[in-house]
Amino acid sequence: MHNLLVTGGAGFIGSNFVHYMLEKYSDYRIIVFDKLTYAGRLENLARAEAFGPRYAFVQGDICDMAAVRQVVQQYAIDTIINFAAETHVDRSIMTPDAVIATNVNGTWVLLEVAREQQLERFHQISTDEVYGAIPVPQRSKEGDPLEPRSPYSASKAGAEHLVYAYFVTYGLPVTTTRGSNNIGPFHYPEKAVPLFTTNALDNLPVPIYGDGLQVRDYQYVFDHCEGIDLVLHKGELGEFYNVGTEVETANIAMAHKILDLLGKPHSLITYVTDRAGHDRRYALDCSKLRALGWQSRHTFDQALELTVRWYVDNEAWWRPIKSGEYLEYYRKQYDERQG
Ligand code: NAD
Ligand code: TYD
Repeated sequence: MHNLLVTGGAGFIGSNFVHYMLEKYSDYRIIVFDKLTYAGRLENLARAEAFGPRYAFVQGDICDMAAVRQVVQQYAIDTIINFAAETHVDRSIMTPDAVIATNVNGTWVLLEVAREQQLERFHQISTDEVYGAIPVPQRSKEGDPLEPRSPYSASKAGAEHLVYAYFVTYGLPVTTTRGSNNIGPFHYPEKAVPLFTTNALDNLPVPIYGDGLQVRDYQYVFDHCEGIDLVLHKGELGEFYNVGTEVETANIAMAHKILDLLGKPHSLITYVTDRAGHDRRYALDCSKLRALGWQSRHTFDQALELTVRWYVDNEAWWRPIKSGEYLEYYRKQYDERQG
């Protein structure tokens, strides 16, 4: 494992992973392959440029088999780590087509090229959302049935099934991680934590869906990167690994904490119409990954504080994003919710 193709590497988790790997492994070369959708940003990868020939960026679509084959051959890729996806549940509800095309068909294209070019490893970045809504006090284990309930989570489950099918049918060496919600630098401000933070900084409403008692496991993005790294190097082929903190936080509690960290009034909280089919709770059991030697380094409070501070210090990153396409999306999504 030396020449890694990181698809979706210009996005939130992908770009953090690229920096993490470049710093950790001095003999690895990282090639980012990314379509640069609204969520993919070259500025997320600015620090990678300092690594010279160990890093390269190629713009391309994972649904384009010729382009994927070309980049794999040109850079003698031996490992694909697939972060590329349409990742927002609310957008997947409004316009499911791109979600299905990229998350399902795009993953299949990558698998086909990985098989044809006999790669050493294909690693799929999946999500805790594939398990569906989990009742208290249950926690999802890797062998549990997948019961996805949104177009996004269904597409991610479909992708996982294809990955596993390529392992069983063609013997492709695959691994899959199922991460919980990530927070940290370069998170596009359509997702809850960066949206609440940047809205609060501008004294704008902090929109809480439904009663705000939905539960998520928010982990710091670097903890997730370490989990992926560990599975890449020590995971068993054909296996799935949950990655999360096992700490549950209700959205409303998270919003209050963000407002406290920023010294903003709680009156900014505005309850809006709930998400259709909103999954009430995700909860992972991460003992399988811990058995490989992993543990989450940041508590939820530490992760949230670091994240909020990053947005305070990096206005130059997020402010230009919150215009143009973003504003159009925001109006469509939230004008309706607020009636
Ligand atoms: P993101 O939306 O920030 O970034 C996605 C990236 O994929 C962008 O750079 C985008 O340009 C690229 N992309 C989209 N379609 C593409 C295509 N057809 N071809 C090439 N590139 C394409 O997403 P993220 O939050 O960084 O998530 C990365 C991965 O992790 C996804 O697979 C997601 O399902 C998974 N995941 C995310 C979370 C989370 O909390 N964000 C949690 C668990 C798993
Ligand atoms: P999100 O960041 O979109 O991640 P996911 O839905 O994939 O878990 O949302 C996290 C939680 O916050 C989820 O329960 C939905 C909720 N939420 C709000 O209450 N208001 C918002 O404006 C957004 C974007 C999300």
